[in-house]
Amino acid sequence: MDFKLTEEHLMIRDAARDFAKAELLPGVIERDNKQEFPAEQVKKMGELGFLGMMVSPEYGGGGMDTTSYVLAMEELSKIDASCSVIVSVNNSLVCWGLETYGNEEQKKKYLTKLATGESIGAFCLSEPEAGSDATSQKTTAIDKGDHYILNGTKNWITNGGSADYYLVIAQTDREKGHKGINAFIVEKGWDGFEVGPKEDKLGIRGSDTHTLNFNDVKVPKENRIGEDGFGFKFAMKTLSGGRIGIAAQALGIASGAYELAREYSKIRKAFGTEICNHQAIAFKLADMYTEIEAARHLVMKAAWDKDQGNNYDMSGAMAKLYASKTAMDVTVEAVQIHGGNGFVKEYHVERLMRDAKITQIYEGTSEIQKIVISRGLLRD
Ligand code: CAA
Ligand code: FAD
Repeated sequence: MDFKLTEEHLMIRDAARDFAKAELLPGVIERDNKQEFPAEQVKKMGELGFLGMMVSPEYGGGGMDTTSYVLAMEELSKIDASCSVIVSVNNSLVCWGLETYGNEEQKKKYLTKLATGESIGAFCLSEPEAGSDATSQKTTAIDKGDHYILNGTKNWITNGGSADYYLVIAQTDREKGHKGINAFIVEKGWDGFEVGPKEDKLGIRGSDTHTLNFNDVKVPKENRIGEDGFGFKFAMKTLSGGRIGIAAQALGIASGAYELAREYSKIRKAFGTEICNHQAIAFKLADMYTEIEAARHLVMKAAWDKDQGNNYDMSGAMAKLYASKTAMDVTVEAVQIHGGNGFVKEYHVERLMRDAKITQIYEGTSEIQKIVISRGLLRD
């Protein structure tokens, strides 16, 4: 067993840390207030290779492993989870899905642009009546020979307004249930494709979340990903890896809040001494750090499983379940340690607390992670 990161891993972690401090921290409060999409920051992240980290260099990516990716996700998320969710969706849902299951033409046409950040991607599974219950797809794609006709509504789509390419899951044959679901690449601007208004959210307010409407959108057959009927498995397999990225995001939110709370406790004085000298505060720090370290081990184990070619459905789900709970627990305590200052925007921890909540909801709620884990445990 070796807990040591390689030189390359440390370099990537440090590069992400430096970038987050230099480029994401300035303006993070304003972007959150104004719900402003971080377009400039996304462009820089693309230039530095953060948007296609695991994509092979052949398609313009960094060719890095999942461990590198989670290290970068943690660092970016310490400062700005609105930016890191964009990184997560683009890397682990869109690019990974296309590279693993797309054909050569699709990779050449779409993946190369997505991996470099020239284009941004979105992953569209959720619907008003199909969130956790993802097989209940109401969006339809009717086979018309050389194309499909897509109709329906997707909601809660991250990068919904800013993306160029959308991976859309839809039902092509209702009789076949989940085996009659397909995944398609849809381009922004195609006739009948409308982006609805942006959601006004509790957290990750810089990321743009939209409802999308498809009204008789013509999708060429060559834009279907994989064999006919592969769409639900495509979504599930892609989400298994995506959950590792969101677990790393939760870990970053927790460690960002912990670091702020530890520093604050060393300078704020009450009853004649720094508050860290009160055992109630020191013990909070001990609990926070212990939870973070436990979450880190689960996140790293899941990333390692993926890199080793092991099954990572359960380890990814456990990492997300635990790290997202850690993010909630730790951010609430970080606000408490800051006292009244924790309740105002200037000190960052209230934003981290608001951002933490989404990690228990998207890419499968905590209850869904428990379904995945328990089914894994009970399987022969
Ligand atoms: N890999 C491969 N196949 C899988 C799989 C996996 N990880 N998980 C399930 N499947 C297969 C099953 O084997 C089954 O196929 P067979 O019948 O051929 O065996 C098929 O998929 C259906 O599976 P289930 O019977 O288990 O389906 P279910 O209705 O019980 O639902 C579920 C399973 C795990 C609850 C699933 O619906 C689910 O994951 N729901 C949550 C949806 C979700 O995570 N949405 C996230 C949207 S993206 C997002 O949120 C992005 C963002 O915020 C940034
Ligand atoms: P529901 O499924 O209605 O769940 C409501 C509650 O019931 C939850 O607590 C849930 O855990 C619980 N529940 C449901 N079924 C069960 C069960 N069988 N057992 C126990 N409890 C259960 N989706 C995308 O496709 N792409 C995106 O890019 C994307 N980005 C998002 C960004 C944001 C900011 C948000 C808020 C959501 C995003 N989503 C995205 C959607 C997200 O994945 C769903 O919100 C999530 O999967 C839950 O679905 P739901 O909201 O319909 O809740």
